[in-house]
Amino acid sequence: MKFKKQLFGFMDMLRFKKLVPNRRKALANGPATPLPQTYRTNQLAARLHPGYMQVELAAIRPLTATMGEFTFKRLDSDAFPFFRSGQYVSLQAKIGESLVSRPYSIVSTPRDALENKLVLGIENAGFFSSYLNTQAKVGDRFVMSEPSGEFHYEDLRDKQRIACIAGGSGITPFLSMAGSMLDGTEAYEMTLFYGARDLAHIPYKAELDAMAAKGLKVVYVLSDQEAPGYEHGFITAALLETHIDIKDVTFFLCGPQAMYAFLLKELAPYGLPVKAIHKDATCCPDLPMDAPRTFTLTVHMRDQVYTVPALENETLLTAMERAGLNAPNKCRAGGCGFCHSKWLAGPFHIAQDRDGRREADKKFGFIHPCVTYPQGDMEIDVPLAY
Ligand code: FES
Repeated sequence: MKFKKQLFGFMDMLRFKKLVPNRRKALANGPATPLPQTYRTNQLAARLHPGYMQVELAAIRPLTATMGEFTFKRLDSDAFPFFRSGQYVSLQAKIGESLVSRPYSIVSTPRDALENKLVLGIENAGFFSSYLNTQAKVGDRFVMSEPSGEFHYEDLRDKQRIACIAGGSGITPFLSMAGSMLDGTEAYEMTLFYGARDLAHIPYKAELDAMAAKGLKVVYVLSDQEAPGYEHGFITAALLETHIDIKDVTFFLCGPQAMYAFLLKELAPYGLPVKAIHKDATCCPDLPMDAPRTFTLTVHMRDQVYTVPALENETLLTAMERAGLNAPNKCRAGGCGFCHSKWLAGPFHIAQDRDGRREADKKFGFIHPCVTYPQGDMEIDVPLAY
């Protein structure tokens, strides 16, 4: 191989030779003050993404017989990080020997967060939510994750007109989305369809009426009661068509699984693209079983090994939490990947339509314990939450 000698190449060598002495000279002439421990960019990143926050319950307000509103403030008095309306936080507490957590959609707006105020509306259903509704007191402390989730408006993807359909306590993310539209944070035009059993089961009715007076379009649909000014029955495509142009909106759905199945069937004839319908994820529940078998779950966490009982009708995450293990989680629906853990041994099955793993995760044996049910004794390696 031949190399062409060049004058410039020779000069490069000279420069290279002087590199170290020049650097030493620059260091010797530099200021004696030590470099900062942190940089503004890092400080800003830490404020926007605090990971987990210590919070205190600042107020409780009953909404209906089965639902309460909970207002939190940060213990360090800092503002809550900015979020997109529609996102959720995961709330965690130690109850007895169990370390339990649940994701809840945020009711308040990103602007409220700047005032160190974050509001959740929680239905009295399930272990942790029932605990909050019946036993939590003002002043109680919890751990809260930073806001997360893909259930929010995205102007590059979504139409300018959006139709939000809520069932029961599924109204919560839409209160934040409506608030953001009315305070100018978001520029979409929102129509809200709210399905409830009867007038006694409409949480946030006064707030929604106040928002309607400011320009939010609200259509109440009561399934079990007829009342003037309210639609009666279910939220069908025919009903939607009387209020919106179905092909000219992006849908956001939040409610029970049965509502999703019903609406997807109603909307199927319109041939809407997948991106036109967003569904808020719901937690993976315990499976109804008369006599579930109990298996042994061996959990490796850092340098510790734990052995915990795992029922076949509950997720691996629930089994770990019941044993007080601090396993990472956020959505509890297979979507966020935050609980991503290494499968080591044992049979399992993943809840239908909940396998949000990437192909590489499947190939290299990773699972999401929040949607994985044991089918025998199992062994997994789980990162520590914090
Ligand atoms: S907690 Fe989100 S995927 Fe498991």
